[in-house]
Amino acid sequence: MGINIEKVRNDTPGVGKVIHLNNAGASLATNQVVNAIAQYMNEELLYGGYETMTKNAESLNTFYVKTAEWINAYPYEIAFTDSATTAWQRAFFSIPWKNGDEIITCVAEYASNYISYLRLKKWFNIKIIVAQDNEFGEVSTLSIEKLITSKTKLIAITHMPTLSGLVNPVEEIGKIAKLHEVFYMVDACQSVGQYPLDVEKIQCDFLSGTGRKFMRGPRGTGFLYVNKDIIQQLDPLSVDLFSAHWMDNETYKMRKDAIRFEQFESNLSLKMGLTAAIDYQLELGMENIWKRVTTLGDYLRNKLKEVDQVKVIDTGRVKSGIVCMEINNHDVFRLMDIMVVKGINVSAASVYNSRLFMEKYNHTEALRASVHYYNTEKEIDVFVEELGKLINR
Ligand SMILES: Cc1ncc(COP(=O)(O)O)c(C=O)c1O
Repeated sequence: MGINIEKVRNDTPGVGKVIHLNNAGASLATNQVVNAIAQYMNEELLYGGYETMTKNAESLNTFYVKTAEWINAYPYEIAFTDSATTAWQRAFFSIPWKNGDEIITCVAEYASNYISYLRLKKWFNIKIIVAQDNEFGEVSTLSIEKLITSKTKLIAITHMPTLSGLVNPVEEIGKIAKLHEVFYMVDACQSVGQYPLDVEKIQCDFLSGTGRKFMRGPRGTGFLYVNKDIIQQLDPLSVDLFSAHWMDNETYKMRKDAIRFEQFESNLSLKMGLTAAIDYQLELGMENIWKRVTTLGDYLRNKLKEVDQVKVIDTGRVKSGIVCMEINNHDVFRLMDIMVVKGINVSAASVYNSRLFMEKYNHTEALRASVHYYNTEKEIDVFVEELGKLINR
């Protein structure tokens, strides 16, 4: 059964206010998410933060159970974080790095991840190697395979980039990583909530996601998956009395589960909100969501063909709901601001977000319209019409 669009829009009060095509930035949340947060906050207000945590221990734990169900992992392989970047960095800096190690990444790599490679390079004599794209603009599995040496420590791939509808072949890469026994990290920030993820099929060691984008959770949330078989080899930079136990004057013991990547203090109301968001999407079914997102994405791409001066900058054979475009003779940041005033939320980005991709394909900046299942064809029509009027008047 498909998605009941009327129902999901009824659950999303924001659709009455704006045409929201900035789901790759932050989606509109549902009433269910906001109610879960408000209810928890209200209990904290009335009964105290620690006491509310104790009383709700079981409900708070469902975050791990649901996230695990969602990506086909075990609950003890999941950590709650405040963003995808926090999740990604906690994993990345926990790897036992040494001089000479090599990292293989991709053209579509997200800026913050690449900056972490550069930071690591200040501390260790490591090599950052960027695999080539294939003729479709996806990272080439052949190129990755050729680049692997005895020094390769990590393959780190952005599944769906922030700019362009590209879907990188993470499952194929997983097979290579497994074969060569190197750590494999997937940035699923833009794919989680949009695409049915299965860590067993991807065969990754780490996967990071954010709450506010296609998951439709609150801002300030994210999660990390770490494969159970490697957790105990990893040494996160930030450790506290939650991720480890203080045993005696000389020793502490790290937790054996993915809580080793968490710290005691976090916003538990937001954790409840994110759990509600996951629940909501589990009920809709990820296959249904992906089908609807790609249908709307294709619809938008086709409509944009009718607009002069607009060029969609997609790469890859399979395309996500993230539609980025170059617009001749127009400042996309200004266009974004004008659109917002008109009640249409889109975003704009520059080379700073995804430098390797932008430079390789000769782009400097792009306007981004990203659809989610609750959007409608009518909303897309209005956006395309307004864009056409704005740039071709
Ligand atoms: C591909 C990708 N990775 C990581 C991030 C960072 O996510 P967060 O802001 O939750 O840390 C983003 C944010 O846009 C992204 O697009």
